[in-house]
Order: sequence, then C-alpha cells, then structure tokens
Amino acid sequence: MRIVIQSDASAVAAFAAREIANQVAYKPHSCLGLATGGTPVGAYRELIQIHRTSHLSFANVTTFNLDEYVGLTANHPCSYRTFMNEHLFSHLDIPLNQTFVPIGDASDLVTECIAYEERIGLAGGIDLQLLGIGSDGHIAFNEPGSSLGSRTRVKTLLQQTRIDNARFFDSMDLVPTSAITMGIGTILDSKAILLIACGEGKAEAIAGAAEGPLSASLPASSLQMHPCVTLVVDESAASGLMRADYYRMSERERHRLEVGTGQ
Ligand code: PGA
Repeated sequence: MRIVIQSDASAVAAFAAREIANQVAYKPHSCLGLATGGTPVGAYRELIQIHRTSHLSFANVTTFNLDEYVGLTANHPCSYRTFMNEHLFSHLDIPLNQTFVPIGDASDLVTECIAYEERIGLAGGIDLQLLGIGSDGHIAFNEPGSSLGSRTRVKTLLQQTRIDNARFFDSMDLVPTSAITMGIGTILDSKAILLIACGEGKAEAIAGAAEGPLSASLPASSLQMHPCVTLVVDESAASGLMRADYYRMSERERHRLEVGTGQ
C-alpha cells in the first residue's frame, strides 16, 4: 500500500485529480470507478480544471459509480446520479450514456445489481477506482461486517452513516435506509485503487485501513490485499498512523529514485 500524506485537503484533491488525469491521458478509453460524498468534490473541481486547461478529453472514458440510494429516482436532488452530473459529468466532454450509476429505484433491485456487475465486466473492468472512506471504515456502502468477497448488492445503512450523510438532505428522516453498492470483491477487482480521506474524523478509519488487522469489521482494511492501492490523506486524517514517518520517507525515496516504491 502506498500512503501519501499531504498538507491539507486541497493538496489531497490536487493529487487525486492528477492521478485520474494521468490515467485518462495514458489510456483515453479508461474505465474509471467514481465516488460521491464530500471528499471527492475538490478532486472533481481540479479534474474539471485540468480538462479545461490541458484539453484532456474524457470523450472515450466510461465511468461506474460505487453506489446509489435505494428508492431515489435518478433526478432526485439527493441522488448520486444528480451529484455526479452536477459535480463532474456536466463539466466534461463525456457522453452521459458512458456514465453508469446504479439505478436506485429499479423495480427489481436484485436484477439491477447483477446487471451492474455485468456492465462493469463488459466494459473490461475498472482501471482506476476512486474511493472515500466512512468514519466507521466503510468503502462505498460496504458497512462493517460486509463480506470481503461481496459483489454489488443492496446493503442496509448503519445509523452512523445515515447521520454522517444527513447534511446532504433536508432532514434525517429523508436519508434512505439502504443503498445499492458495489461489493468489496467488486472494488478489489479494480486494477488500481485511489482512496482519499481528509480530517480528524477519518484518522481512526485510516489507521485501521493501513495498519490494522485485515477484518470485515473495518472494510477498508481489505485494501491491504490489493497490489496497487494508494491512500492519499491530509495531516489530520494521517494523525493516527503509527508509521507516518516511514510513509513520508518512502515518498521522498520514490521521488529520488523515480520508481514506484511503497506498495
Ligand atoms: P465523505 O464520505 O467523503 O462525505 O466523508 C466518504 C464515505 O462515506 O465514503
């Protein structure tokens, strides 16, 4: 696992945007896995800026979002489809029919989950998956206790997750109780993974993900099994890391040698 400690949230955003842009520049037909939530907003803003200034085209990119609330229509103001359209897709040259978000109000949710997995497979799999992390260590909506081999399915949200996400809704009662989410197994099938986290509220989860035991109780610890994961965190989110000095040294070494150390 590569761990990159940045000074603040804007440096985390800039780093993540550069990684995504590099992926698209290297492979214009990339398949990107995308995330919602507060943390990716800055990265998307930077990516839009890169698209404008460097004329980086997303016309051939395909995207798959991690999750969607069950029961919300695509055009609901709080749906993740709306979030993605507003924060990213409408600012890029990507055709909307190349962007996939699970359909949260599908009449048959099980069929939708199976179809979502099939769509990812037909697209050739995800080249780079962007992730946030919950304060409880969840990735996507894989709450603690999720099977490490899970695939896209419906998950009931923990009360803490609903509380964390209530800020996007008019009231707590309006926060859905379940979501369609890629499974941990689905996420681990991605060729590369980039997890971003900012703020003290994420420090414990980040420490568990990077240095804790591998456990379904902290879903992000499953990333320890993947050969190509980068965690990009600000100083506050890094504050629980026991080996922070080593990670900093490893990054300096990486730059000095210009090789990919640190996985
Ligand atoms: P946040 O959510 O970016 O809004 O903190 C992250 C997550 O729950 O995965």
